[in-house]
Amino acid sequence: MKDKTKIIHTRSGRGPVKTVNPPVERGSTVLLPTREILYGDGKVYGRMGLTVHRELEAALCLLENAEHCRLTSNGLQSIALAVGAVLEAGDHILIPDCAYGPSRRYCTRRLSAMGISSTRFNPTLGAKLDDLVQDNTKAILIESPGSLTMDIIDVRAVVQIAKDRGLITLFDNTWGAGVAIRPLDLGVDIVMQALTKYPVGHADALGGAVLTNSARLANKIAMCSEDWGISLGPDDAYAGLRGLRSLHLRLKQHEEGGYKVARWLAERPEVECVLHPGLESHPDHALWKRDFSSANGLFSLTLNETSDEKLDKFLEAMKLFGMGFSWGGFESLLIPCDDQLDRIEGDRIHDRAGPLLRVHVGLEDPDDLIADLDQAFAAMHA
Ligand SMILES: Cc1ncc(COP(=O)(O)O)c(C=O)c1O
Repeated sequence: MKDKTKIIHTRSGRGPVKTVNPPVERGSTVLLPTREILYGDGKVYGRMGLTVHRELEAALCLLENAEHCRLTSNGLQSIALAVGAVLEAGDHILIPDCAYGPSRRYCTRRLSAMGISSTRFNPTLGAKLDDLVQDNTKAILIESPGSLTMDIIDVRAVVQIAKDRGLITLFDNTWGAGVAIRPLDLGVDIVMQALTKYPVGHADALGGAVLTNSARLANKIAMCSEDWGISLGPDDAYAGLRGLRSLHLRLKQHEEGGYKVARWLAERPEVECVLHPGLESHPDHALWKRDFSSANGLFSLTLNETSDEKLDKFLEAMKLFGMGFSWGGFESLLIPCDDQLDRIEGDRIHDRAGPLLRVHVGLEDPDDLIADLDQAFAAMHA
C-alpha cells in the first residue's frame, strides 16, 4: 500500500460504531472506575494525552517509519526534548550552523547552562565532520535542508561517522515532513518535526513530535518529557492529525508552485541567486537528489545590490505574499532574513550582493503569485 493511502486509513477498519475522526476530549481530569486503573498507565490524565494524541502518534509513526513517538507543544520543544533527553552534563554535541536559529540558541544557551558544550559545524563538511568529534561528543544534530540558506547535509556520511564513533544522530525533519525524506530509514536515530508547518498546514495550530525506532532512546525521551511536563493540547493534536490526511496532496501542490515561482525568480534581473535544492543550480543539488524524493514550497533567494528603501518598497507592495514567521500553511509568505541569519561557519552566501529572502509558496495558483511578485518588483523601481 502506498504511503498516501496508509495515512488516510490509520483509523479505518471494522469494529465498534465510530466517527471517521477521533473525539477531541478536552480535559485535565479523567474519571476512572477503579484504583487499579487510576494508577495504571492508560489514559489517566490530560497531560499524558488522550485518544486524539494516541491516534496522532500512530499516524506519525507510519509517516516516519518509526515505532515510538512523543508529542510536544511545538517544533522547538521537540528539538529541546530530543537533544535534552540524550545528553548529560559533561557531554558535547555537534550542531549544524544552518540549523533553525532557536535550535542553535537552545544548544548554546540552555545546554551550556546545563553543563553541556556544543560546536557549530559547517553543513558542507561531509565526512570531514569526523575531525570535530571530541572525546565527550555524544550526539550530532542534523537539519537538512538547513534553515534560510538551504544547505544539504550529507546525512549518510554523518550517520557513518556516528556509527563508527558510537554517537546519536538527531534529524530535524520539518522540511522533509516524513514525505520528502525518512531519516530513520537512512540510519538516523531520532527524528523531530515541527507539526506546526506542513502537517498542520493551515497556520492555525502548533505542535511537535520526536520519533525513534530505539526502545532505549524512546524510554529516555519519555522520561525527559515526563520530567519537563511536556504536553500537546487536544485541539492542536486534532489539527495535526487532520492535516496529515491531506499532507501528500498539499505537498505536491506546494512543490509544483515552488518550482514554478523559483524558476521565474531565477530569471529576474533583481535576483542574484535562488537557493532551492531541487534546482540544478543549487550547489548541493546532487546530494539532495540522492536522498530526497520530492521538494515543497520553501526556498530562499538573494537579491542583487539594493537599498533598504527599495527593499521596503518591494515588501510593502506584495499583496498575496504575507510577511510573517513560520511556513507550511496554505498561504504564501516572504520574509527578509538577514536579521536572523547569524552564521559563523561555512556561510556560502557571505559575499552576496543584496539581502537574503525566504519564500514560502502556498496553495494559490503560482501564476497569480508570479504576477504579485512582478508588480512588487515594479513598485521597487518606481
Ligand atoms: C526547521 C524548523 N524546525 C523547527 C521549527 C520550530 O517549530 P515551532 O515554530 O513549532 O516551534 C521551525 C519553525 O520555523 C523550523 O523552521
